[in-house]
Amino acid sequence: MVRGTITGTIGRNGQMRDFNEHNITQAVIDRFAGTPDARLKRVMNSLVTHLHDFVRDVEPSFAEWEAVISFLTRTGQMCDDKRQEFILLSDTLGVSMLVDALNHRMPAGATETTVLGPFYVNAAPVFENGADISGGMVGELLFVEASVAGADGKKLAGATVDVWQSDDDGFYDVQRPELKESALRGRFRTDGEAKTWFRTILPAAYPIPYDGPVGDMLKATNRHPWRPAHVHFMISSPGYETLVTHVFVAGDQYLDSDAVFGVKNSLISEFPEHPPGRMPDGVVSTEPWRLLSYDFGLKPL
Ligand code: BEZ
Ligand code: FE
Repeated sequence: MVRGTITGTIGRNGQMRDFNEHNITQAVIDRFAGTPDARLKRVMNSLVTHLHDFVRDVEPSFAEWEAVISFLTRTGQMCDDKRQEFILLSDTLGVSMLVDALNHRMPAGATETTVLGPFYVNAAPVFENGADISGGMVGELLFVEASVAGADGKKLAGATVDVWQSDDDGFYDVQRPELKESALRGRFRTDGEAKTWFRTILPAAYPIPYDGPVGDMLKATNRHPWRPAHVHFMISSPGYETLVTHVFVAGDQYLDSDAVFGVKNSLISEFPEHPPGRMPDGVVSTEPWRLLSYDFGLKPL
């Protein structure tokens, strides 16, 4: 019998045996040699290599490895049609923004992207430009005006602009089961000048859901769950890549410690205060109002 060999033993019938910390990685990679799909084979090789290196680096005890399995099990059990704890895990580990960065190397003139987040609703109510999307939620009045162009400079009339945001207490409508109608979200179309505008309320900073295993991880590592205040935008136009991004409120205390690493300088905007009076669409406001003006650029396909 061969014991403690550095390389695995090839037995009489070509079996690979006697694996140890030095040879098991190559043996597992070899087991995937027959994978017909070349991309899948490359992904499995890389996964096994990095996962084994991680385990060799950390040298977990059995109790620690059990804790890892239990954490991943609870993460899966937390998921349903409203809650996706694995995406939250990906977000808080910076993986979502890394995948986003690798897939969005943007040309000059294209707006930078950031995470979609879990609060997007595909069937948002459709509004005319100028509408009030607050749905009765109370907060500081905010007038939003935006233009949409291609990174090539072409004005994009008829572009679809989805917006969604938190309320003054930092909640999205989908987090308030008591609401009968949706609020603080809507779908607009840019007009002939490639512009869209609407009124809403100023969004507030909010914590990502932290009542599950991801929250436990944040607590155990002394991290906070907060995201800086922002308005989400998803903008599409034929012939261009759909843009998924936010505009962040300048001065927010969490801009440099966003729980999901989503902040980019180019996406931070002032939301200046204005006294009561005429807003950009000519409507007179009797209360003070804030203004968000942003010019979006889409990447040609
Ligand atoms: C959001 O901005 O809605 C969000 C993004 C990632 C995780 C949680 C929330
Ligand atoms: Fe958000």
